[in-house]
Amino acid sequence: MVGMPRRRVAVFGAGYIGLVTGACLAELGHEVTVRDINPEKIRLLRSGEVPIYEPGLGDMIVRNKERLTFTLDLDEALDGAEIAYVCVDTPPSASGDADLSRVWSVVRSLEGAAHLRAVAVKSTVPVGTGSRVRAALDAAGLAHVGYASNPEFTAEGTAVGDFMHPDRIVVGASDEATAGLISELHQGVDGPIVVMDVRSAEMVKLASNALLATKISFINEIATLCEKTGADVEEVARAVGLDHRLGSHFLRPGIGWGGSCFPKDSEALRQLANNTGYHLQLLSAVIEVNNLQKRRAIQKLKDELGTLAGTRVALLGLTFKPGTDDMREAPSTVLAARLLAEGAEVRCWDPMARPADSEPWTSTTRYETPELAVDGADAAIVVTEWPQLKEVDWARAASVMRRPVLFDGRNLLDPAGMRALGFTYLSVGRP
Ligand code: UDX
Ligand code: UDX
Repeated sequence: MVGMPRRRVAVFGAGYIGLVTGACLAELGHEVTVRDINPEKIRLLRSGEVPIYEPGLGDMIVRNKERLTFTLDLDEALDGAEIAYVCVDTPPSASGDADLSRVWSVVRSLEGAAHLRAVAVKSTVPVGTGSRVRAALDAAGLAHVGYASNPEFTAEGTAVGDFMHPDRIVVGASDEATAGLISELHQGVDGPIVVMDVRSAEMVKLASNALLATKISFINEIATLCEKTGADVEEVARAVGLDHRLGSHFLRPGIGWGGSCFPKDSEALRQLANNTGYHLQLLSAVIEVNNLQKRRAIQKLKDELGTLAGTRVALLGLTFKPGTDDMREAPSTVLAARLLAEGAEVRCWDPMARPADSEPWTSTTRYETPELAVDGADAAIVVTEWPQLKEVDWARAASVMRRPVLFDGRNLLDPAGMRALGFTYLSVGRP
């Protein structure tokens, strides 16, 4: 980028967000050091491997290796850094509020870094966190270091593109110089920059995720009503989405939303409201609808098979969506646990997932192909809409299943075609 100042940036956290942020800032021409406390991650990254699956990320890291380094060492990360980006995880705590201990651990580690010009937080945090970090920086003699909230809106699987071509870059800063610095850092990114105060920026992230989750829960409720009234939710969603005021995105019905953000951020927003004494009624219903949606899937199988005790059920797809290896809050975990509790044997297939080495997964059997997973099964559930599932020889699958019952939890397959192959075919909101 001609004329663009190159900045020295220290990125804290080499997770999904930190790696994408680091790689993209290096791609923009900045000198980036990504610091993580996990030795295995840093070892892998230094040896040229990317510890997560994210399309385009590996190539981008290789392409920018001159400007992108990885370290465990705090001093090395901070050496000459002008901006510190906080990208550590903020998981739910026991109370449902976001656990900010990792954010605080990074902020405390910056106390001696008087040469910094700004601290920018990308991790999703409750509204008001910025003020508290500001006060901590002031108390540590870093009053001259600016503070910015710069939330990310990247979706897994498209994170690199989302960073480089965003709908908007939100910069919440308490002073103009910091807003200018963070805005300038994004020169070369193809998207409008929206500058605001820190609290509003923190709220934008939570409100955006909550509204997206609301759209999905809404269409899932309409899908249930379609089942009861004989309408077809796919037709309904298509036509509703053509109204430009409503938009067609996030109207795909299914077995519910999961992932690293929606479940945790919607609960964190609900608790943020509860902490102020205000109950977010709509959001509470959105979360409840999503919880029910997963249980309804099991009920549908019970309606079909009678009891689930002693049956074999295949889960096709385990990740919370296709195109990622991420299992965080994946609906499949709830389905597997419920099936086991009902006494079913659970078999599964997924091309990418790395399920935890704990229950329910330790009580399930993994198969190399969808065909092997359904062989001898009493029912199969399409949990994640992996494109590979469209290529399955379903005619053969129907013939090797003990009972050809298929619940298509993502409306991936054609109802008439599947029924013609002999399946008892169930889906979401379609007659
Ligand atoms: C995180 C948050 O979960 C999310 O709220 C926010 O919007 C973006 O950042 P993600 O990048 O997916 O998401 O988290 P994760 O993949 O768990 O990575 C966090 C990394 O931070 C881990 O590699 C962890 O080892 C590292 N870490 C954690 C530190 O380097 N220092 C710490 O003190 C704590
Ligand atoms: C989301 C947001 O899109 C992103 O802006 C934010 O930064 C992080 O959270 P991500 O979790 O990666 O990104 O996935 P997304 O594609 O949004 O899907 C989330 C969940 O909703 C998935 O479980 C997906 O299956 C489900 N979903 C999505 C639906 O059920 N129907 C839809 O129409 C869209």
